[in-house]
Amino acid sequence: MLTKKQTQVLDFIKKYMAKHSYAPSLDEIKRKFKLASVSTAHYYISKLQDAGFLNKEHNQPRAVSTVKDKQTVEIPILGAIAAGQPIEAIEIPDETITITRDEIGKQGKHYALRVQGSSMIDEGIFDGDIVVIRKQEVAENGQTVVAVIDDNQATLKKLYRENGKFRLQPANPTLFPIYRDEVEVRGVVVKIIRNLESQLDQGQSRDEKYVRKIDYSWDYRGEKTKSHTHGIHTYPAMFIPQVGRRLLETYSKEDDTICDIFCGSGSALVESRLIGRNAYGIDLNPLAIFLAKAKTTPINPQKLTKEYIALLDRVEKIKDSEIQRPNFKNIDFWFKEKVIVKLAKLKKAIREIKDEAIQNFLMVAFSETVRYSSNTKTGEFKLVRVKGDKLEKHNPDVIGIFRKHAEKNIAGMTDFYKDAKKDSWTKIIYGDSSKDNGIKANSIDCIITSPPYGDSRTTVAYGQFSRLSAQWIDVFDDPNDASGVDNDLLGGRATKNLIHTLSSGYLKESLEKIAKQDEARAKDVLSFNLGLNECLKQAHRILKPGKYFCLVVGNRLVKQVRIPTDFIIAELAEKIGFTCEDIIVRNIPGKRMPIKNSPTNIVGALEETMNKESIVVLRKN
Ligand SMILES: C[S@@+](CC[C@H](N)C(=O)[O-])C[C@H]1O[C@@H](n2cnc3c(N)ncnc32)[C@H](O)[C@@H]1O
Repeated sequence: MLTKKQTQVLDFIKKYMAKHSYAPSLDEIKRKFKLASVSTAHYYISKLQDAGFLNKEHNQPRAVSTVKDKQTVEIPILGAIAAGQPIEAIEIPDETITITRDEIGKQGKHYALRVQGSSMIDEGIFDGDIVVIRKQEVAENGQTVVAVIDDNQATLKKLYRENGKFRLQPANPTLFPIYRDEVEVRGVVVKIIRNLESQLDQGQSRDEKYVRKIDYSWDYRGEKTKSHTHGIHTYPAMFIPQVGRRLLETYSKEDDTICDIFCGSGSALVESRLIGRNAYGIDLNPLAIFLAKAKTTPINPQKLTKEYIALLDRVEKIKDSEIQRPNFKNIDFWFKEKVIVKLAKLKKAIREIKDEAIQNFLMVAFSETVRYSSNTKTGEFKLVRVKGDKLEKHNPDVIGIFRKHAEKNIAGMTDFYKDAKKDSWTKIIYGDSSKDNGIKANSIDCIITSPPYGDSRTTVAYGQFSRLSAQWIDVFDDPNDASGVDNDLLGGRATKNLIHTLSSGYLKESLEKIAKQDEARAKDVLSFNLGLNECLKQAHRILKPGKYFCLVVGNRLVKQVRIPTDFIIAELAEKIGFTCEDIIVRNIPGKRMPIKNSPTNIVGALEETMNKESIVVLRKN
């Protein structure tokens, strides 16, 4: 099914191809339709590909071609339907929508309606969407129907029969159902089409200098995020693969060299490998580096499975007297003695594996085992010990946990090994992105990254999250050094005062507001931004001129002051030699962030509820 705009884009591509024998570039599509960015042009192309109107070819800008002989059907849009309070049923066709036959099935007559209201949001039906309805007068329990009640009032709801009555159930927990003795069913929803254009218009929030565009097409609500090696080991604030991939496909091309300057556990690097980009990843957290390497190193799954089975056999035979107990501070506080013994045996058996890549890969499952068998609350990213009865009863099956994770990881690696592009490479650097990490000037085709939301102490404590694993798997020569990581990350050390030369009006304003309430917090924020500015300078150095730098950032709240990090980055970057081409706002349906509970490291402190983030698209001048 195509919206009006999608049909126009398709027509343009067809005409262009008839004239030139090749497809227009994303930039040409952007210019033709006065789109805000090439990313929006890419969005239309993906939609046309998903709907089967364009062939999926290589990820080259011009590598699209139209599909011939696709059976399409024009469906009348009969007006608006309320997904909220019922409105009068109108049936005057105002325009049509084109859809491929196979999207709605061959049977029945269809019409379409524009949705008004938000009562069906949990079903993925939003204000401004178009729903395609198959005409029918009966519906099964639970189907989403067009129901007419109370003398010609139409509404879109889920229909249930209960005790001789009809319940029209909204899919929005804040709204109540409507009960009626009689309901006239006018059809059942068979297809929903998101109306990106109207949402873009409605969602656009203007500021004097920059424009934020709310774009629901970046949400990827309900989509699978754990394919390939993405499901291996949790890590705070991971990219969802779809966002990483879309940025890569929009702003780079096959065989390009990309860089993620805050690569974390390596989500963008995994995606790069899957779609044929060479990639550098940089991070200052040793556990992140360890995970990113394991997730991006293809391993033959047969060899891996063989080693894994042999390992399970070996671990059973290791005697208590053969193990070496790790020596780090507070080990007994975080682990029960029985658990320490089992973990030490497992570690010994893994260390005996000769193939380094396989050893490291299985060490990742071991790291997950450390986390899940420790005395910590696993639902938190910071280290919080379970208490009382719960701690008493805590009796984890260490080997069972390991098996579960190792087997899931091997399944992920099997897919990654199959799909990873053999000719692409990934290089992972342990380093500080505010400094020169040896990547040559003007050598990178695209930078895609998501920086921390703020300093580790008051946002996500990456170091604290990683500490127990890092101590067990020996990523530090002295395991007690693991406690220092958070101080080294962006904003880890507060500035001495609030004097600075950063040229951002937005930052200045935020700092003033925060400092009035709490000077120490203002110093944390300044320190973070000073570090970030240095990272922007390094990014500018390594990027080729004319190429893109995309940052996925959160606008956090400090002392009830919303810090516009997206605008601050835009201002700082423009000073350094970038142009800000786009700021897209996406909802965060599934980001692995402590959204609803405390994201601070202070137990019980509820600092903010972050459910949106901005994608800042910069281009080097
Ligand atoms: C939002 S996370 C990135 C998550 C990543 N996109 C993923 O999918 O796993 C931010 C990362 O920045 C890293 N970091 C913080 N300060 C840094 C610095 N100065 N240099 C390099 N990495 C840094 C943290 O260790 C953390 O892994």
